[in-house]
Amino acid sequence: MCGIVGYIGDKQAQPVLLDCLSLLEYRGYDSCGIAVSSRSIEVYKDAIRVAALKKAAPKLSGKIGIGHTRWATHGAPSQLNAHPHLDCTGRIAVVHNGIINNYQQLREQLIGEGHSFTSETDTEVIPHLIEKHYQGDIIKAVEAALAEIDGSYAIIVMVAGEPRLVAARKDSPMVIGIGDREKFIASDVPAILNFTNRVIYLEDGDIGVITADSVKVKQHQAEVTRTENKISWTIEDAQKSGYEHFMLKEIHEQPRVIRDTLAGWMSAPEPILDLEAVRDNGAEAMLMLACGTSYHAALVGKYIVQELLKIPVRAELASEFNYYGQALAGTMAIVLTQSGETADTLRAMKRLKEAGCRVVAITNVVGSTASRIADQTIYTRAGPEISVAATKSFIAQLMALYWIMLSYAKIDASRLSSLTAELRQLPSKVQEVLDNQDRIAECAKYLAGFKDVFFMGRGINYPVALEGALKLKEISYLHAEGYAAGELKHGPFALLGSKTPVVAIVAQDNTHEPIVTSIKEIKARHSPVLAVVPEGDDSVEELADSVIVVPQVEPLFSPVVNTVALQLLAYYTALQRGCPIDFPRNLAKSVTVE
Ligand code: AGP
Repeated sequence: MCGIVGYIGDKQAQPVLLDCLSLLEYRGYDSCGIAVSSRSIEVYKDAIRVAALKKAAPKLSGKIGIGHTRWATHGAPSQLNAHPHLDCTGRIAVVHNGIINNYQQLREQLIGEGHSFTSETDTEVIPHLIEKHYQGDIIKAVEAALAEIDGSYAIIVMVAGEPRLVAARKDSPMVIGIGDREKFIASDVPAILNFTNRVIYLEDGDIGVITADSVKVKQHQAEVTRTENKISWTIEDAQKSGYEHFMLKEIHEQPRVIRDTLAGWMSAPEPILDLEAVRDNGAEAMLMLACGTSYHAALVGKYIVQELLKIPVRAELASEFNYYGQALAGTMAIVLTQSGETADTLRAMKRLKEAGCRVVAITNVVGSTASRIADQTIYTRAGPEISVAATKSFIAQLMALYWIMLSYAKIDASRLSSLTAELRQLPSKVQEVLDNQDRIAECAKYLAGFKDVFFMGRGINYPVALEGALKLKEISYLHAEGYAAGELKHGPFALLGSKTPVVAIVAQDNTHEPIVTSIKEIKARHSPVLAVVPEGDDSVEELADSVIVVPQVEPLFSPVVNTVALQLLAYYTALQRGCPIDFPRNLAKSVTVE
C-alpha cells in the first residue's frame, strides 16, 4: 500500500505535492519522491520520509506534478526504487500504488525491445510500457499499457510539456479533488482535505484525464460521469478511512490483505520456498521462531506443517531460544516478524546462522534488518500496520505459511485442489466475520464487565486462544490467559466461577467432542462461556451463555476466521472500556530492545 498524489493548477506544484504526501504516510513511508513538469520533467526522490524530502529537495519549478510515498513490496527502500519512475526518454513519469503480478515477464519483454531499467520495482514497467505505445496520444498509450498488466494499480501519468495528467485505477483507490482552476489526485481523501473537500471517486477501469479546468473520465473508451461528493471528515478520520481507530480499519483490510498476499504467489511458476531438502531431513527438519503475535502464527504454522508435510517441526519463542535454544546445522529455520526489527528475533536469527541453519524470514517490511540477515525473505503484503496490536499482519503470516506448506504437501491431488480452492475463498469468509461485528460487539459489552478471562482451544486453535488472549489483554487491559483446553483442569479450574468467563473456540475437527466436554466441565463450575462456533454447529447452543458464529471453513483454515472474530471481540471490549486502543500503554509497535 503506497500513497500517490498529483497536482495541476495555478500554483507551483512542489509545495502542494509535499503537503499532500505528508498526509499519506500512514499508507507507506520507507521512501518518497516528486516529479514536476514544465518543458521537461524534474524528479527528486530518496529513501527518506516526506519531512526530510521537504528539506532536501531543490526548488523544482512547474505547475504540474506527481508524488509518491512508498511501502515497498518489490525492491528494498532506496533512491532508485523510490517513485516516480520514468521511461527511457525521461519525458513520461509515473507514480503507482498496487502490485503488478506479471512484471518480471513484462520487464524481460521490454528489455528485449531495448528498454533499460534502473530499479528493482514492479512499477517501473509502467512508464516503459506507455513509452512503447506512445505515438502522441497519451490516453491511448495508457490504455494499451494497462491492457498488458495483470495486477492492481492506481497510477498517475505525467508527460513533459502536456498540460494534463492521466489517472487510472484497478483494485487500488483513487480520488480527484476539485478546486477552482486546479485539480488534485490522490490515493485517499486525507491528502487533499487542506485544499478542497470536493472529490470525485474513480471506479475500477476508469481512466481520468485531468486539466486545471476539467475532469473527463472514460471507461472502455466511452466517456462516463462520476458524481462529485462533499467530504465532511476531518483529516484524521480520513486517514482511518472513517473508522474510529487504525486497529478497526486494519481488521477490515484483511480480505484485501489475503488477496494481495496470495495473488503473486498463487500465479508464480515456482514454490516461494524450496522445501525439497527439508522433507527428508529427519528429526531436525524445521524450526519456527518469533515473538508475540508472530509466535502465535509460528505455532499455527507448526500444526500446518504437521498436517501437510508430516515432518518434525518445532516452534520456539525467540526470547527463550536466545538462552537455551539449540538447532542442528541444516535445519530450516523460518522466522516470522511483522516489523523485521524485533531485537529478540534478530538475535535468534544470528544464532541460527552461526549454527549453520538455513534462515528464512517472513516479514511485512521490505528491506528490514531481518531481511538482510536471512538467507531468504518472503514478504507479506499487509501494508503498513499502524496500530500496535498486530492483526492483518498475523493473517498475512498465516497466508504465507499455508501457501508455503501447500506447495509441498504430502496429500492427494483432490485434497490439494480442494484446499487451494478454499484458500481462495478466505477473503469472502473473513468478510462474513466482519459483517457480523455488531453481534461480536454485543458479546464484548458483556465481557468488558469482567476482570479476568480465559481463552481455550484445542489443536490448531490452541494458538488462536493464545492470540485472542493477547489481543484482549494488550488493548483492553483485562487480564486474559490463553490455554490448551485440556490443560484447564490441571490447575486453572481453581479460578473458575461466575466472575471468570471462558472464551471457547469450537472447531469441526477431531477436537470437537473434547472441547464440548471441556465446556460442560467449565459450566459445571459456573463460569460464563462465550463460544466461537462454526455456522450450523448447534452442539453448544444450550451450553454456552453466548455464541459467536463464524463461517464454516476447512478446519485447517479455521484459525483465520476464528482469529478475526477474536480481534473484533478484543477491539469492542477495549472500546467499551474506554481504552486508547491504537497505542496501548507501555507497548511499542516494534520491540527493538531485548
Ligand atoms: C502483537 O499484537 C504485539 N504488537 C506484539 O506481540 C508483536 O507481535 C511482537 O512484538 C512481535 O513483533 P514482530 O512481529 O514485529 O516481530
